[in-house]
Amino acid sequence: MSAERALVLGCGYVGLRLARALSAEGVSVTGTTRSAGRFGEIAAAGARPELMDTGDPASLAALLRPTPEVVFDTVRPLRTGADAYTVESTRAIVDALAERPPGAAVYVGSTSVYGRRGGEWTDEATPIDPVSPAGVARAGAEALYLDAWRVRGLPVRVCRVPGIYGPGRTLRQRLETGAYLRVDDESHVVSRIHVDDLVAGLIAAWRRGRAGQVYLLCDDRPVTGGEYARLTAGLLDLPLPASVARADIRHELSAGAFERRTADRRCSNRRMREELGVALRYPTVHQGVPAALAEEGAV
Ligand SMILES: NC(=O)c1ccc[n+]([C@@H]2O[C@H](COP(=O)([O-])OP(=O)(O)OC[C@H]3O[C@@H](n4cnc5c(N)ncnc54)[C@H](OP(=O)(O)O)[C@@H]3O)[C@@H](O)[C@H]2O)c1
Repeated sequence: MSAERALVLGCGYVGLRLARALSAEGVSVTGTTRSAGRFGEIAAAGARPELMDTGDPASLAALLRPTPEVVFDTVRPLRTGADAYTVESTRAIVDALAERPPGAAVYVGSTSVYGRRGGEWTDEATPIDPVSPAGVARAGAEALYLDAWRVRGLPVRVCRVPGIYGPGRTLRQRLETGAYLRVDDESHVVSRIHVDDLVAGLIAAWRRGRAGQVYLLCDDRPVTGGEYARLTAGLLDLPLPASVARADIRHELSAGAFERRTADRRCSNRRMREELGVALRYPTVHQGVPAALAEEGAV
C-alpha cells in the first residue's frame, strides 16, 4: 500500500512540528515555504520542501497533483497595514482546494474570532463576535472554508486555536531581554496549547474529525497571564518586571496588540477530547512550560 500523502501549506513553527509528527507516522509529507532558504529545516523535519506563495496560484495548484489525502493550512490572513488584514491568501487556497478536493482540509484558525468574552467559558457553539482587525479577518477566513464545505463540498475541519507555546515559543527570551510587558499583572484568563498537543489535535481532526465541523484545540485549564509569567520566571529564576496599568499603555499599542493583551477567554476542549479522542500530553501549562524550557535547554 502506498503511503498517505499530506500537504502542509506553510511549514513554519507549527508546520514543522506537524511535518515531523506526520512523517514519524509514515505519512509522505510535502511542506511549503515562500523561501528556498528554509528548505533545509523543512527537509530535516522529514518533509519534501516546495515553494508556494498564495500570490501565485499556479504554485499552489501544482502541489495538488496528485491530490493529497489531507491538506493542512497554517497560512494566516495577510497583513496589509498596522491594523489591517486581507483574507485573499485564504481565498486563493480555498479556491485551489475546491478545484481539486483532498480527502480532508484542516484549517488552523484562531480563537480571536470570539472577541471579548469577559472570562466566560467558550466552546464551538459560542457565537463568534470578533473585535480586533485580526479576529475579523480570521472570521472571514474560516467563513470561506465553511462556505466551501456547504456550497462546494470541500471536506473542511476548522480548528480554532488559542495561544500556542512550546520550545522556541516561551516567555523566556522576552523575560531575559526585558521586553516582556506586564499589564495589570496580566490578570485576564486565556487558554493555551502546547505545540505538540496542537499537532496531535490537527492530525486527529484529519483522521477522526467530521467535514464541516469546528474544533477548539486547547488545553484543560486556562490560566491568567500572570500565572503563566510567574511560572516561567520561577522556572528560570528571573525577576518579573513591574506591572503597568492598562490605561497607561493603551496609546502605545496597536488596536490588535492591545486586544491580544486583554483577551479573556476560557476555552473548552470537550469536543477535542470526546470527538477527536485527543489525550493531552501537557494538560496545563504547569506540565507544558517546564517541558518546553527543557527542550530549549534553558532548565
Ligand atoms: N502563535 C499563536 O499563539 C497562534 C494562536 C492562534 C493561531 N495561530 C495561527 O496558527 C498558524 C500557524 O502559526 P505559526 O506560528 O506556525 O506561523 P508561522 O511560523 O509564521 O508559519 C506560517 C507559515 O505560513 C507561510 N505563509 C505565510 N504567508 C504566506 C503566503 N502568503 N503564501 C504562502 N505561505 C505563506 C509562511 O511561509 P514562510 O516559510 O515563507 O515564512 C510559514 O511557513 C497561523 O495561521 C497563526 O496565525 C497562532
